[in-house]
Amino acid sequence: MDVMQIEFRQAERSRIHEVDFNNLPFGKHFSDHMFVADFVDGEWQNQQIVPFDNFTLSPALSSLHYGQSIFEGMKAYKNDVGEVLMVRPLDNLARMNESARRMCMATLPEEVFMGGLEALLRLDADWVPNTPGSSLYIRPYMFATDTFLGVAPSKTYRFCIFTCPVGTYYAKPPKVKVETEYIRAAEGGVGYAKCAGNYAGSMYPTMLAQQAGYDQLLWTDAKEHKYFEESGTMNVMFVIDGKIVTPALSDTTLKGITRDSILQIARHMGIGIEERQVSVDEIISGIESGRVTEAFGAGTAVVVSPFSVIGYKGKDYMLAEHPADKSIAMRIKTFLTDIRTGKSDDIFGWVYKV
Ligand code: COI
Repeated sequence: MDVMQIEFRQAERSRIHEVDFNNLPFGKHFSDHMFVADFVDGEWQNQQIVPFDNFTLSPALSSLHYGQSIFEGMKAYKNDVGEVLMVRPLDNLARMNESARRMCMATLPEEVFMGGLEALLRLDADWVPNTPGSSLYIRPYMFATDTFLGVAPSKTYRFCIFTCPVGTYYAKPPKVKVETEYIRAAEGGVGYAKCAGNYAGSMYPTMLAQQAGYDQLLWTDAKEHKYFEESGTMNVMFVIDGKIVTPALSDTTLKGITRDSILQIARHMGIGIEERQVSVDEIISGIESGRVTEAFGAGTAVVVSPFSVIGYKGKDYMLAEHPADKSIAMRIKTFLTDIRTGKSDDIFGWVYKV
């Protein structure tokens, strides 16, 4: 990738020694540098790698008022010889551009996204953890930068990538509650876009669920609250009669790249897959009858996260914890992690070496 057009300003002093790599809460420690580019006069310019620092922003910045703001989540790992690996970065770019189109924002050319990403990861390679369960979380995002209060698409945007070393997202299997009052997305809306507002809208119902003792929500459809859509920050999957059953994608669900990787791995392992409508009743009665043996979330941040409890209409339905070699979710997680860390062959052609 051509990185000639990126200007570099290196941090005077690395902050890496201030971080305890054995204790990495999600999203709290930021690596030394960030990549920044601006969309001005119809083109991406001012590509820079600079020390991670605050931006100076106008109080009238349009994204702060009307929410033209999108993001991605990716991860980098180290292999045994210290090389930095990512998987499927171009799928993140494709999804980011889909989000951009829906939010009426500028799209990103591959040279800017990949050029910035590679240059940043090369410079901050020491920040990529190599302890099991840890990785470097990568946050590419874009926001509108016009200083204008009319409700109209901005003509200017900033794209930025920064990274943080992270451990596991959930310390223990989350308890999730089926949401039957609030909704995350409706047909024709922005549910499939990774836009900031989707996360803002989820916070109040999630807070209510947390006050009731749960960690996260299971969103249901906007019309009837009858079918599962996804969970907060992840897609959702169930194991029914030994098969993986997951809600089919639609414009109300995020097109998860981890979701797709899991389905491809499951197919390769000979595990049955069904992508279809999954009703709450089917899962609740399946837990009661023993046909539903696992339920888990899948996403970049969590990778694969088995649920311990599903709460529905005031009752808790428990999901047994299986030993790692007996759990379909955990077997797939190990398979994916081994590809990402270079421990096993890249049979799907996903690995991108920096
Ligand atoms: C990710 O998995 O990267 C996400 O987008 C979840 C994030 C909001 C924590």
